[in-house]
Amino acid sequence: MKRIAQAPAVRTDGDGGYDDPGFSEAVIRWQKQHGRHALPWQNTRDAYRIWLSEIMLQQTQVTAVIPYYQRFLARFPDVASLAAAGADEVMSHWSGLGYYTRARNLHCCARKVVAEHGGEFPSDPEALAALPGIGRSTAAAIAAFAYGARAAILDGNVKRVFCRVFGVEGFPGSKPIEDALWRRAVDLLPEQGIEAYTQGLMDLGATLCTRSSPSCAKCPLSQRCVALASDRVQALPVRRPKKAIPEKATAMLVVTDRDHVLLEQRPGSGIWGGLLSLPEMEAPAGGLADMDLDGCVSRRAASYGNVASCEPLQPFTHVFTHFRLHVSPYRVRLAQRAQLAAEGGHVWYHAGQLQDAPLPAPVKKLLLAVFRRPDLISD
Ligand code: ADE
Repeated sequence: MKRIAQAPAVRTDGDGGYDDPGFSEAVIRWQKQHGRHALPWQNTRDAYRIWLSEIMLQQTQVTAVIPYYQRFLARFPDVASLAAAGADEVMSHWSGLGYYTRARNLHCCARKVVAEHGGEFPSDPEALAALPGIGRSTAAAIAAFAYGARAAILDGNVKRVFCRVFGVEGFPGSKPIEDALWRRAVDLLPEQGIEAYTQGLMDLGATLCTRSSPSCAKCPLSQRCVALASDRVQALPVRRPKKAIPEKATAMLVVTDRDHVLLEQRPGSGIWGGLLSLPEMEAPAGGLADMDLDGCVSRRAASYGNVASCEPLQPFTHVFTHFRLHVSPYRVRLAQRAQLAAEGGHVWYHAGQLQDAPLPAPVKKLLLAVFRRPDLISD
């Protein structure tokens, strides 16, 4: 049975207007009963340990982090030992965790904490966020766990929880949506119990409100979850909008002299770099429709010799990873070849050798189709 999301007791006289004590109370109560309490970086106020865990957890799952965290701490038990270590040793203890900028920033941050903060991590989230590798959300997590500071986190998991519970439509990575989520995150902060609340949001996102198979039946926020009530749990958060793939157009000339076809060496870089291909006439930005294609093709064909016939073939589209290429091929039969300039990179290729020629796949396919049709080969 679908639950009805109750309108939360939202006061709208505050700054952001999203404060709702019931929300944080539900998260804290759930965290105390069902959240994670025995992770290696919990049950301590040691800012160094908490900072190290938060950096490792930025792009890596808890289970992968645990052994690295333990080995790292055994070798670098405090910020002074890490600051004093050489970069190579730090990197080797990070090796395998990935995202190595984190390790370089970590080392740099440790040195700054020693040099500029007397070896103590600052308790102010803004001062923490000024250190290398510490963004706003990580700063808030460190400040909350190490110093009990009332600061808001907003990592990917928390964004997912908020987007679903509050029915936020729009991509959470976009600036306006992210700004609005930060306002919510700040307004929802509890007066008491910041540690359990912060951990609770993380735990909910990681264990119940997962991307593809959320456990809504166990969720302490299900009664107020707009996504659940409106059957939008799978749809939220909205995915990153796909970029429109650019389109390009070109005419390709299949210029033949009896059983030979004219090929061109392509430039070393760019698409099909270094391969042989057909002579092309790239369309202007507006596409082939913007040019007198038949006229252009006829003029270009005449530069290759005495033209016996010129006819359009079936157009096709080739899809690259970053764009779509619409190809309008033309079959040009020559009665007689012209002498071509040596620097043009032109070669006359025998049809029987095309199978093994260094040609782009769609061009080879086109040529084999052309030459498989005797009516298109022989004159
Ligand atoms: N992800 C980020 N910070 C975390 C933490 N402190 N515990 C568990 N998962 C986390």
